[in-house]
Amino acid sequence: MNAREWTARRLPSIAPVMNERVVIDHVGHQGDGVAAGAAKAFVPYVLPGETVEIAREGGHARLLKILRASPERIEPICPHFGTCGGCALQHWQEESYRAWKRGLVMDALAREKIEAEIAPLADAHGGGRRRAVLHARRGEGKEIKTGFAGRRSHSIVPIDACPVLASGLSRVFEIGRRVAEILVAKEKPLDLHFTATEGGLDLDVRGSGPVGERLTALLARLAAEEKLARVTRHGETIVQLAEPSLAIGRARVLLPPGAFLQATQAGEDALAKLVLDAAGKAKKIADLFCGVGPFALRLAERAKVLAADSDEPAVSALSRAAKAPGLKPVETLTRDLFRRPLVAAELKGCDAVVLDPPRQGAEAQARELARSKIGKVIYVSCSPATFARDAKILASGGYRLLRVTPVDQFRYSAHVELVGVFER
Ligand SMILES: C[S@@+](CC[C@H](N)C(=O)[O-])C[C@H]1O[C@@H](n2cnc3c(N)ncnc32)[C@H](O)[C@@H]1O
Repeated sequence: MNAREWTARRLPSIAPVMNERVVIDHVGHQGDGVAAGAAKAFVPYVLPGETVEIAREGGHARLLKILRASPERIEPICPHFGTCGGCALQHWQEESYRAWKRGLVMDALAREKIEAEIAPLADAHGGGRRRAVLHARRGEGKEIKTGFAGRRSHSIVPIDACPVLASGLSRVFEIGRRVAEILVAKEKPLDLHFTATEGGLDLDVRGSGPVGERLTALLARLAAEEKLARVTRHGETIVQLAEPSLAIGRARVLLPPGAFLQATQAGEDALAKLVLDAAGKAKKIADLFCGVGPFALRLAERAKVLAADSDEPAVSALSRAAKAPGLKPVETLTRDLFRRPLVAAELKGCDAVVLDPPRQGAEAQARELARSKIGKVIYVSCSPATFARDAKILASGGYRLLRVTPVDQFRYSAHVELVGVFER
């Protein structure tokens, strides 16, 4: 299929008020093409050098037609690409896509004038994403729509298969539809959070309202038929038929409902290997923003660990898993590290600190580390911008950023993870 056919097939036909012809200069950090010229336009699904026709919509633009396609354009792997909001970049040949993704990390560091060795992008898509959030809503008539959210919208794009998901999630669209038939009574949207675990699928339902006896019985029957491990509503168990657990190193974690997990198993493995390699022979390590413990539990195979996170169910799950035979002691702490970062006295005795904060970064904790005597900081980040900001704070405390490894577990998206190793 050529680029013109691709555009015609995938982009909704509209009658634009003002069409414009632009040339795309580069792909920006959110995955949209940035049109060259005085009035900047952000255009989805395009590539550098392409000439395209667009219609402006506020700060963004709608792609109407590809007039001159890039030789780097390839056929997307999914028929929903272009309407589903999940993927931004299935249409770019691999080498250029990888260079762009690594470039996101390089640019963020350059903006803060931070110099460091940046390793090649590590591919961590592996067997695919192990978590998915489906949305369901009853339409104007009686029909129920289930699928993913559209691009920059709350509309639901009906989906029946997604090539980016792990095989354990292959039935989520059918299961989601069946759950929605039971629970979607009104116009209210339903969010269905699926996680693939070793015990089967774990489903946390949000937005359904209370689930009484009759609906519980229907969900229990569905769970048995579909071999779901557990169904919860906003974290409260409706039915559990198996343990939704995952092995982490020598330990096994029973996942709390809707718990944070790295997007792919390969991503978790790649990040954990980088953390373990950087930790080296450290004898006591603090794992801050530890979640259910993908780093803490592996580190505990060789060192004492102090693990902290604000999510109490995740910390409790980690604490229970850390009792596995053969692990060194893991001390756990439930704490808001934005408001109350660990201070130098609390980190005394630690040779290294691992940080893995959410997108906001770890500004307060970085300030405390800058004041501490800790020799090594291993910073795992999902936001190159906040990582670069915190790296500057660490540098002000005498740390040198030795190397940064970008990790791609969100293939086809504009997200990138990284591991930065600091020493002093
Ligand atoms: C990117 S996740 C990393 C979790 C874990 N390291 C992993 O790899 O699965 C970020 C973690 O930060 C935690 N978190 C978010 N805000 C926090 C805060 N203010 N204080 C402490 N932890 C927080 C979340 O609960 C989550 O577990």
